Amino acid sequence: MIYTTGYTANSASLQSLLRKEDIAIVDMAVHASVYEGCLLTNRKSFPHNDLQSLERILKDVQGSYRTKMIIIDGVYSQDGDIAPLDKIRELANRYGAYLMVDDAHGIGVIGKTGRGAMELYSVIDQVDFITGTFSKTFAGIGGYVIAPPKVAAYLKFQSRQHIFSATSTPAVAGIIKAIELIDQEPQWQARLSENITYFKNGLISLGLDVGITGSAIIPVKIGDPHKTSDVGSMLLKAGIYTNPILYPAVAKKNARIRMSVMATHTREHLDKTLNAFEHIKRVM
Ligand SMILES: Cc1ncc(COP(=O)(O)O)c(C=O)c1O
Repeated sequence: MIYTTGYTANSASLQSLLRKEDIAIVDMAVHASVYEGCLLTNRKSFPHNDLQSLERILKDVQGSYRTKMIIIDGVYSQDGDIAPLDKIRELANRYGAYLMVDDAHGIGVIGKTGRGAMELYSVIDQVDFITGTFSKTFAGIGGYVIAPPKVAAYLKFQSRQHIFSATSTPAVAGIIKAIELIDQEPQWQARLSENITYFKNGLISLGLDVGITGSAIIPVKIGDPHKTSDVGSMLLKAGIYTNPILYPAVAKKNARIRMSVMATHTREHLDKTLNAFEHIKRVM
């Protein structure tokens, strides 16, 4: 099922699937669109990747709701870390919950053939609902939900955001080619992987805190929001576009510069950025 954005894929599908009798159990770090999708249902959140808390909630809600759905990201958008999908699937099975994975940042990047965090953990056939976006690896605009055919048909008739709003333009068909290229030209994924390793190691050797990223999202954690904005401006002046991430996207004390490494970045690009960070570290 195609939606006009990844945001709508999450918000519309969840609003259609989960109601007052149901409960969404979400990792605290999921994307804002998931939170919006849960507005018509009950919601409990567990601390990021904390499996004990997740299990506690699953135990607490046993027998109380019609449908339980665990909702997580495959790759988290601010830290770039990957969810322990195998363990979460196991918990979902044990307590009879559905599992929805938003792999917006995993598809095309993670897994042997680019099939995302689900491929990395060999659970591709065990995720009930996969959602994602065309705005990252596929370099387009749009979003999708992968679900059994009957559920996809139900979403088509139940999603107000789909029925009462313009649909995707024919240009979205270009995404089909982008999907084919992931299989046909694996060298891009390999090159991305090399770039990620090179850039991440470079930042670490400068003594910068990149956290626990396992993907193309590389944060440089600074903490103070004012300092983070200043670093963003200095990088921009040096000709480098990054995303300074501040509250409410992250907690107030967790401000960071967030970067996304691409396969088309050259060594020159990456070195220029590393040199800029080195300079900023020296003068700040
Ligand atoms: C994890 C995650 N899901 C969904 C989205 C929304 O996708 P889109 O930009 O296509 O609306 C984003 C960010 O853009 C994201 O980081």
